[in-house]
Amino acid sequence: MKVLITGGVGFIGSNFIRHVRREHPDWQITNLDKLTYAGNLENLKDIEEGPGYKFVRGDIADRELVDGLLGQGFDVLVNFAAESHVDRSILDASPFIETNVKGTQVLLEGARQHRVERFVQVSTDEVYGSVDSGACAEGSPMAPNSPYSASKAAADLLCRAYFKTHGLPVVVTRCTNNLGPYQFPEKLIPLVITNALEDKSVPVYGDGLNVRDWIYVLDHCRALDTVIQKGKAGEVYNIGSGNEKTNLDIIHKLLELLDKPASLIQFVSDRPAHDRRYALDCAWISSELGWKPAYSFDKSLSATVDWYLANESWWRPIKSGEYGRYYEEMYGKR
Ligand code: NAD
Ligand code: TYD
Repeated sequence: MKVLITGGVGFIGSNFIRHVRREHPDWQITNLDKLTYAGNLENLKDIEEGPGYKFVRGDIADRELVDGLLGQGFDVLVNFAAESHVDRSILDASPFIETNVKGTQVLLEGARQHRVERFVQVSTDEVYGSVDSGACAEGSPMAPNSPYSASKAAADLLCRAYFKTHGLPVVVTRCTNNLGPYQFPEKLIPLVITNALEDKSVPVYGDGLNVRDWIYVLDHCRALDTVIQKGKAGEVYNIGSGNEKTNLDIIHKLLELLDKPASLIQFVSDRPAHDRRYALDCAWISSELGWKPAYSFDKSLSATVDWYLANESWWRPIKSGEYGRYYEEMYGKR
């Protein structure tokens, strides 16, 4: 099977490529990635180029490049490529529209022209917006509140339109917050771990009682693998673990695991339009495709902490380089 993975250098994409190399060594992967600030080739240092894996640097919004690449003939396209950080989308939404909306449309059009048999759009629970009570099923209305989630919702709707209008076999997945190795240290869990290891303060937005449902990245990868093989064209599948935690719960647990004092916690001004809670009903993927999460939250959290402890050579250069300077400047403005 020939698989085009976009954004495969990032956090989830690189874990997915490692998953595929392990579980399906006969699949031929091409990884198209622009290498933005979040695309660090160190994430795939252990994956060798060869008949089973090829890397192409490029932009999913580049029509000519995408057309040429898809013209080589792919059975499956999995789109991870995105601008993925809510805080950045608040500072400047334009790269989010360019990549998440236009880029997805360019991929959909290329897949249509070249008759890709399965297009998997990796989306997010954030498209449903904040959920006061209960949980969102796939048919729940989308109500995105950040430029990031709005751009992902727009991409989901384009996927729906390409299925309805052109019969393109698209499947959309909406997953909850991931944790695990290789996550860029601007996101909550790696930010807390790495700041605490450097004895720096840990910023908590608002009252710290916002709730997210956390899933281990390898469970997300297993779910995507299942969707590639068994998902039905035109469907949406929610993916989650039912591990609802407040940000403060997680931060206290992490500080405990790292043997660092709670005095590192610093309450800072809230994120505008900060979604209070995300919650998914995942009965559909479980009943239709037989997928269930395999990792407990406690195990995932300690495995993640262990990975950051063992891989300081991965995150220290990120924090002391260009991103570190960007972060200090942004943080100073909060
Ligand atoms: P990430 O920011 O770690 O990685 C994104 C990757 O996409 C990077 O390698 C980057 O270089 C690449 N990229 C960005 N713009 C590109 C472009 N125009 N062309 C080609 N490549 C480009 O993101 P992630 O956390 O791995 O998320 C991957 C996908 O999963 C995203 O679509 C995101 O919306 C979705 N998602 C993430 C989470 C989460 O918790 N991280 C949860 C649900 C869904
Ligand atoms: P984040 O990892 O940015 O994911 P998302 O906003 O996409 O869910 O943030 C997770 C939660 O943690 C969210 O409620 C915002 C909060 N947060 C903080 O309190 N402090 C921080 O420094 C960051 C990055 C996030």
